[in-house]
Amino acid sequence: MCGIVGAIASRDVVPILTEGLKRLEYRGYDSAGIAVLNDGIRRVRRVGRVVEMENAVRAEDLKGIIGIAHTRWATHGGVTESNAHPHVSNDEIAVVHNGIIENHEEQRARLKGLGYVFESQTDTEVVAHLVHHYFKASGDLFLATRKTAADLRGAYAIGVVALADPDTMTGARMGCPLVVGLGDGENFLASDVSALIAETRRVIYLEDGDVVALQRSGVRVVDRAGTEVHRVVHISELSANAVDLGPYQHYMQKEIHEQPRAVSDTLEGVIDSGVDAEGLFGAGSESVFRDIDSVLLLASGTSYYAGLVARFWMEGVARVPCSVELGHEYRYRDSIPNARQLIVTISQSGETLDTMEALKRAKELGQPHTLSICNVRESAIPRASRFVFYTRAGAEIGVASTKAFTTQLAALFTLTLAIAKAKGRLGPTAESDAIAQLRFVPGSIQHALNLEPQIQAWAERFAQREHALFLGRGIHYPVALEGALKLKEISYIHAEAYPAGELKHGPLALVDASMPVVVIAPNDALLEKVKSNMQEVRARGGELYVFADLDSHFTESEGVHVIRTPRHAGLLSPIVHAIPVQLLAYHTALRRGTDVDKPRNLAKAVTVE
Ligand code: F6R
Repeated sequence: MCGIVGAIASRDVVPILTEGLKRLEYRGYDSAGIAVLNDGIRRVRRVGRVVEMENAVRAEDLKGIIGIAHTRWATHGGVTESNAHPHVSNDEIAVVHNGIIENHEEQRARLKGLGYVFESQTDTEVVAHLVHHYFKASGDLFLATRKTAADLRGAYAIGVVALADPDTMTGARMGCPLVVGLGDGENFLASDVSALIAETRRVIYLEDGDVVALQRSGVRVVDRAGTEVHRVVHISELSANAVDLGPYQHYMQKEIHEQPRAVSDTLEGVIDSGVDAEGLFGAGSESVFRDIDSVLLLASGTSYYAGLVARFWMEGVARVPCSVELGHEYRYRDSIPNARQLIVTISQSGETLDTMEALKRAKELGQPHTLSICNVRESAIPRASRFVFYTRAGAEIGVASTKAFTTQLAALFTLTLAIAKAKGRLGPTAESDAIAQLRFVPGSIQHALNLEPQIQAWAERFAQREHALFLGRGIHYPVALEGALKLKEISYIHAEAYPAGELKHGPLALVDASMPVVVIAPNDALLEKVKSNMQEVRARGGELYVFADLDSHFTESEGVHVIRTPRHAGLLSPIVHAIPVQLLAYHTALRRGTDVDKPRNLAKAVTVE
């Protein structure tokens, strides 16, 4: 999604802004722009990659000691240079904006009435004109930004500069992340800490409703009530080389291969110290886990599929009723609140608006027990939750989630054990057995990664197809869903997943010799049922690609291709079986020549509705 970088310094900020935008590229965008104050507002915008904007910046010899920059992921108005940010009002105010201004039409009509002329189709341009309108009246950029924020409805993070005040930059946030970076005699603004990490690690995470004024000597923040506030300064632990590709061709490939390490780091606490709820999830969690009567898992996309797996563990191991819901469905549904339910949000980025809003909704409904499983420290969702478990996947840059998924599963299994133990349903022997199983997982993931050459051979064939079906049953059905999602999002092959038992209720009509059918079929209680479903496919000439383990005793035959993981992982098998479906999608996309790390139309952190 869109990215913001701003800097006010006594040196040229253009390299800082350009480097910051490059560090935000992974989020997905379609155009980029920059504006600095230097004898007027000097602006360069380009459709396409940051590097194209950078070339134009160099050609124009753009320089300045205060400026803002932006990567845009189109929402209002097409992908054109005139819709790219920064947006300028009357050559005096420049604005960058993430999010959606819901009342932009109303404001546009009002501003037109005041004589403003619009040059773009964006909702952002109203922000530029509003700031201009208020700045004209007061000559105070901070006040003008506060008055503008008060007029806006929706979700936004904005950055503003004014030609008449080259010593101030302002920002405001509501619903979209915005951080302030503190330097020595210089300060920065960004939508994501990673944009600033080359300049400073001292950051302030602004709260919803905050408006900030940055000067070279310091920053001032007022909250939504207009009261001046001091926000905590955090020292970011993000690694500056987290975005290095190393020996890999793509971030997705790197991240798939990092999974043994990522899962082992995530499990370190429980493997080293046992199932200690308070140590793992925070003070007070054990008594909450003891008292809850159910669990509701809220998430989107791949994180939602992690939730679907966890439901089997929550009900089967902890014996707690568990439901799983997409955040954007839950937030608008007239659900029945239950104060004894544990609300668990699952999010890699911690910024997904749909999940964040679902969490807010749960709190509004009076649900006090909230827990977040998240990969990004200090992001919005964990900060709004009472308990937190951080997965330790490290920065995930590829748009398609891989190591976030398997580490979320590791975290959710840990949570299941903690709830079971708090409720007296996990005795010492069961606890040490479960921990012993967890210890094996990183090694089993490595074994699954070693299957890559065989999967590459399958990918050759998949790359020729336009459709694919994925089947699984029970705890492996969510892995089928994840396999279909990965394949469609990066190779653009139409892929659908079904619980295998559902086949004969409709999708079987699609099966013929041209439809590859991927089956996730390790040995579990439903294996014999899956085998019958596979017969239904073969009988219609469908070709089967089966991911099994040694215990499922499949043999290859005509139309039945089998790849076996060498070890049966029991209840944790979905973690291991996520690997081959990720590799299949990656190698298929590679053969089709798509942009694996930045698939079309998608963004990494989905901060709009
Ligand atoms: C798919 C994918 C998305 C995300 C979803 C939620 O590969 O990455 O479906 O899983 O947008 O994102 P987070 O986990 O950041 O809330």
